[in-house]
Amino acid sequence: MTPRISLTRYLVEKQRVDDRIPSDLRLLLEVVARACKGISHAVNKGALGDVLGSAGTDNVQGEVQKKLDIIANEVLIEANEWGGHLAAMASEEMEGIYVVPNRYPKGEYLLLFDPLDGSSNIDVNVSIGTIFSVLKKPEGGHGVSEQDFLQAGSRQVAAGYCLYGPQTTLVLTVGDGVAMFTLDREQGSFVLTAEDVKIPEDTREFAINMSNMRHWDAPVRRYIDECLAGKDGPRGSDFNMRWIASMVTDVHRILTRGGIFLYPWDKREPGKPGKLRLLYEANPMGWLVEQAGGTATNGRQRILDIEPGKLHERVSVILGSRNEVERVTGYHAS
Ligand code: AHG
Ligand code: MN
Ligand code: MN
Repeated sequence: MTPRISLTRYLVEKQRVDDRIPSDLRLLLEVVARACKGISHAVNKGALGDVLGSAGTDNVQGEVQKKLDIIANEVLIEANEWGGHLAAMASEEMEGIYVVPNRYPKGEYLLLFDPLDGSSNIDVNVSIGTIFSVLKKPEGGHGVSEQDFLQAGSRQVAAGYCLYGPQTTLVLTVGDGVAMFTLDREQGSFVLTAEDVKIPEDTREFAINMSNMRHWDAPVRRYIDECLAGKDGPRGSDFNMRWIASMVTDVHRILTRGGIFLYPWDKREPGKPGKLRLLYEANPMGWLVEQAGGTATNGRQRILDIEPGKLHERVSVILGSRNEVERVTGYHAS
């Protein structure tokens, strides 16, 4: 019988082989995984746990907060603040950074998260997730500031997401490929269920919110028009469409069977670079996709090369199967 590899064993063995995961980072990842188990539990309870519906408040993005957005945010903070591995955290649900309180020891890592991604799915019992990104606090300087978080995605040391779907699945990269772990509820542990995940270079499946079509820019319109033209169009084949309205779930499908995901800039609010947030949505997802052999751009530039100007910066996102992403990116250049 092949032994089951738990997340703990996976991380310990990675640390042993090439020291890619120092013990503080391993602790951090285990704590994030434990927090995700807690969130998964709350999500599962749904109406029975009184976790559905709106919290009656708005976040810094001006979006109505759901009860689960706030619960997930609190679970992640409480789990991570006392371990001594972090200097500070940043979240979609908090305007400023959360500095580890002085009563706890401080570490050298910075944790960023979207505690609950796909919030519009919560009340209708459709898959949602948690996205996270880990950076190192820049050397020197006293204390920790928002500026320390403004690092390009290429400087991430770990990134991942936890999908709360029919199964709870944790997907992780520390820069040497992508691994997936499924939560075994009886054992209470994440078990390795896929390693060295690869996104096929080609795909005939796209994900975009079609209701925004009239607001798109010409290159995106051209790409989707060509997909919709199917067999008789310039692409010479029929395309399929999926849109879950939870980036975690759409990206999980793409990591599993390929595809392209687009949430592009559009003319609704021309001053906004996009809807999705760079630091805790696009960067971690972009890195996972690249680690699985895919590509992630904003139409003009590699996502991971963007130098962030502010904590809640937004960005246009096109990611997934390499050849399709390169095609749309090429349309932007021409
Ligand atoms: P969040 O729930 O964290 O605000 O993120 C939702 C994001 C993303 O997950 C999804 O792809 C997209 O918003 C859906 O947007 P539309 O409702 O505009 O389709
Ligand atoms: Mn989100
Ligand atoms: Mn969210």
